[in-house]
Amino acid sequence: MSFLNGATVGFDTVNNKAVFIDQTLLPNVYKEISTDDFGEMFEAIRLLKVRGAPAIGVFTAISLAVLMNKSNAHTYEELISELSRYADELIKCRPTAVNLKWAAEQMKKCGETSNKDNFKENLTALALKIISNDIEVCRKIGEYGAEILKNCNSFLTHCNAGRLAAVKYGTALAPLYVMKEQGKSIRAYADETRPLLQGARLTSFELNEAGIDTTLICDNMASYVMKNRLIDAVLVGCDRVALNGDTANKIGTSGVAILAKHYGIPFYVCMPFSTFDFSLQNGSEIAIEERNGEEITDLWYKEKMAPEGVKTINVAFDVTDASLITAFITEKGVIAPSEIKKYITE
Ligand code: MRU
Repeated sequence: MSFLNGATVGFDTVNNKAVFIDQTLLPNVYKEISTDDFGEMFEAIRLLKVRGAPAIGVFTAISLAVLMNKSNAHTYEELISELSRYADELIKCRPTAVNLKWAAEQMKKCGETSNKDNFKENLTALALKIISNDIEVCRKIGEYGAEILKNCNSFLTHCNAGRLAAVKYGTALAPLYVMKEQGKSIRAYADETRPLLQGARLTSFELNEAGIDTTLICDNMASYVMKNRLIDAVLVGCDRVALNGDTANKIGTSGVAILAKHYGIPFYVCMPFSTFDFSLQNGSEIAIEERNGEEITDLWYKEKMAPEGVKTINVAFDVTDASLITAFITEKGVIAPSEIKKYITE
């Protein structure tokens, strides 16, 4: 029995559980997990069972509501300090995606403006609002994207910024879902995305399921497909955008953007407006997550694929220069990098 019914994360308010798909098992096993345990929530984010910037933000909001609903705290002070403790721990899980911090801080603010009697109820209501808001925002990104990309049929994407990275639709893949609904004939090329293979395991899985013509390529084939005119536009998601438009996304994104510029192919970043981090002047200020090198040397392989003790660099994200980005597709419309500053007061 599926609780999620096509969504990636959810809030089972009847049983007070955070529900998620364990994405580390995809595409071979589809498993929904329901939990009210902080350790399990923390590990789910850290181990990328729940991943993708919007999804981890929404899951954080749900988790905090679930944890506070089961709290035995007696006073308002105890409730607020418990909420802050959990929120601050979850923020540390993954440093690059602004959405996680954004959601945790929204929940903290909600606690601060509540009282002992409406504390739990308000947090639950906010978590549910964050879920429905994510669905609406991604839908809008899809609609704006489908409009601006109406003359394009074939798209390259990197990592997974589809429905598995949000609640539904996703960001970079949302325009594809909308175009498919409109009956347009489209093709997607998915970079496999080393080392965690989000493109192979997740993007090609969800696009195939949606009946979209999908071709999986190795990361080092992006230049080949571009040069051979197989790609009309590149669509990627992102984890954080600085004020000057520099954009952090999955490692390898900046290389794809450089190639796109070389071949004259438009490069779009699709994202909720909340992914802009106006507190950062440029991309050098974005914290980049580093992960265990065994993800490169051992994971997925039957046997070790590198000599014992070899040095590795395993940065999970890189920053694409604003100059390589054609535009950001957001729920507020399509924004060129040079226009970001106009939105700073919103
Ligand atoms: O490490 P992941 O799988 O969480 O990385 C995901 C990405 O880099 C996505 O492109 C990004 O979070 C945007 S998701 C809409």
